[in-house]
Amino acid sequence: MTKEETKKKIEKLSKELEEHNYKYYVLAQPSISDYEFDMMMKELIELEKTHPDLISPDSPSQRVGGAVTKEFLAVKHDYPFLSLDNSYSREDLEDFDARVRKGVAGNIEYICELKYDGVAIGLKYEHGSLVQAVTRGDGEQGDDVTTNVKTIRSIPLRLSSPSKGGKGGFPDKFEIRGEIFMPHKIFEQINKEREEAGDPSFANPRNSSAGTLKMQDSAEVAKRKLDCIMYVVYTKDLHFKSHYESLKEAKNWGFKVSDYIVKCKSLNEIYEFIDYWDEHRKKLAFDIDGVVIKVNSYDQQKVLGFTAKSPRWAISYKFKAESAATILEEITYQVGRTGAITPVANLKPVHLGGTTVKRASLHNADIIEKLDVRVGDTVFVEKGGEIIPKITGVDLKKRAGLDLKSRQTKYITHCPECGTELVRGEEEAKHYCPNEWGCPPQIKGNMEHFTSRKAMNIDSLGSETIDMLYEKWFIKNIADIYELHKHKKELQEIERMGEKSVSNLLAGIEESKQVPFERVLYALGIRHVGETLAKKLARQLRNIDAIMEATEEQLTATNDIGGQVAKSIKEYFSQKRNKELIERLKKYGLQFESESTELIKSTTLNGLTFVVSGVFTKFSRDDLKAAIEQNGGKVVGTVSGKTSYIVAGENMGPEKLKKAEKLGVKIINEDEFEKMIK
Ligand code: IVH
Repeated sequence: MTKEETKKKIEKLSKELEEHNYKYYVLAQPSISDYEFDMMMKELIELEKTHPDLISPDSPSQRVGGAVTKEFLAVKHDYPFLSLDNSYSREDLEDFDARVRKGVAGNIEYICELKYDGVAIGLKYEHGSLVQAVTRGDGEQGDDVTTNVKTIRSIPLRLSSPSKGGKGGFPDKFEIRGEIFMPHKIFEQINKEREEAGDPSFANPRNSSAGTLKMQDSAEVAKRKLDCIMYVVYTKDLHFKSHYESLKEAKNWGFKVSDYIVKCKSLNEIYEFIDYWDEHRKKLAFDIDGVVIKVNSYDQQKVLGFTAKSPRWAISYKFKAESAATILEEITYQVGRTGAITPVANLKPVHLGGTTVKRASLHNADIIEKLDVRVGDTVFVEKGGEIIPKITGVDLKKRAGLDLKSRQTKYITHCPECGTELVRGEEEAKHYCPNEWGCPPQIKGNMEHFTSRKAMNIDSLGSETIDMLYEKWFIKNIADIYELHKHKKELQEIERMGEKSVSNLLAGIEESKQVPFERVLYALGIRHVGETLAKKLARQLRNIDAIMEATEEQLTATNDIGGQVAKSIKEYFSQKRNKELIERLKKYGLQFESESTELIKSTTLNGLTFVVSGVFTKFSRDDLKAAIEQNGGKVVGTVSGKTSYIVAGENMGPEKLKKAEKLGVKIINEDEFEKMIK
């Protein structure tokens, strides 16, 4: 194919992919299968690889992610990023309506919308292409998160021209703002994965969206499946006269705009909208925390103007968090797989938001102390943005007259399961039971994690079977699983096991020996090493010995491994018992080496040390690092006198640049690097 032909094909594929993307993520009406879509995307990426100069910044391939943002640059907003005045009652709304009517003459039309509970974002478009995405920040300037935002499928990268059925088409230059959020389903899935990796879970979808938007690796952001609904348009080139029209137009340009937007003429109609959504919000796939009421006419908006912080033509009405009072009957303590202790409030069952609540998390010792919550107290339980209900306070009036001193809650000092004295790290909120080799819920939890689907995938060894085999002392750690075949006869004698299920069990265990290294690494259950990190470690360091021997510095040179994670990995492998465990697992034939055949391609870079910094167009950072290592070079995280080269992309860290200049380290770009290995 000539370059001209490739260009045409890329343009055609890009256009089609964006169309399908729109149908799937905005209209929820896909017209091709996921497989066909993936194949088209694959074709586009392959074509772009042959001519990297043809990759346009708004190509659908950017949605897959891969580029890394080291630092989010501050950007000044073109229009101040205002917030809304809040209201909590009908009286507040009456006051708002009176202020509006005093401010402008004539009939007033209001628009009622949902108040999405996520992270605000401003998207700038020029000539129909997304050019920049900026967070709210302090209202005057925010962070440039464009690379990450491009992975959000419901945000168009390129608007179809002139417009999707609209009259006027989109302005040459405009900004549209909206809310990025995480649907409940994705939120729950991510928290499950974090729990499995021993990482703290996100309190609510809003925190999870905010955290995701600030991740450095956009490929990870792509996996989190964020969504975005737009709620206001800013442009100097207006051809619509009202807010309602602007949203209708934006919808035609290809943006996702809520279907639940209504025009209201009176306070009563506004109340109706509020009451309806207060009741029905549970049915939405995402969180809202209220509704927003806006004056529709732009002319009237102009007359009303702004205060320092918010427009006078809009107000938000916040729903009350659902709350109930009940008795705290007992505080119990749960021990997790990693030994983390979670205090749990056991409550007299109470109705709250459509479910019966019997338990609520008390999180940690500090929270208990702050609330001064005691058994027997009447407590307030709330179901806010959090999925697990929480205790927000104590009804002290109900405590009066009782003997206070004797009942003050004393946090446990020893593990409720094994009696070991608990420890608490300096900056840790939680207490831990350090007896990981002798504390039953930790041992069983580790085994459950080890056999789980994404780890060794031994589905014949689920939690009930593990419980039973552990109680009977057949398995005391994960390595014992591979000796179970020696107990075949005894196993068959266990009630409910029988010949068939024993042979199933043993076959499942045998099969797991083929599970690839990255999953074995994840299965070990090293604190903070989730699925993705295990993959990265396996790909970059290739085998268990290299990982065991890696220094903290070498580990932090790997993308997304921070100091705390590196420490946790070192700590795991410093334990004699873990080393013995791995030796045993090796002996049983588990995979402890990456399969890839392209281990060392050449020795061209032997003896050279590289630092990789910035964002690249041809390579992802991981690929670049892999290419260095595959050609015999070494990758480190910090610039020093020993550094041979810095491979620098766009937005290279300024500290690194300064240091490199001072030490006289050579800086090369990705093209120069490519030449080196060719
Ligand atoms: S309009 C000048 N509409 O609530 C207009 N905001 O405290 C300002 N929000 O920062 C915003 N849903 O992040 C508007 N339908 C909606 C909204 C909405 C959620 C957020 C937004 C804003 C905050 C206001």
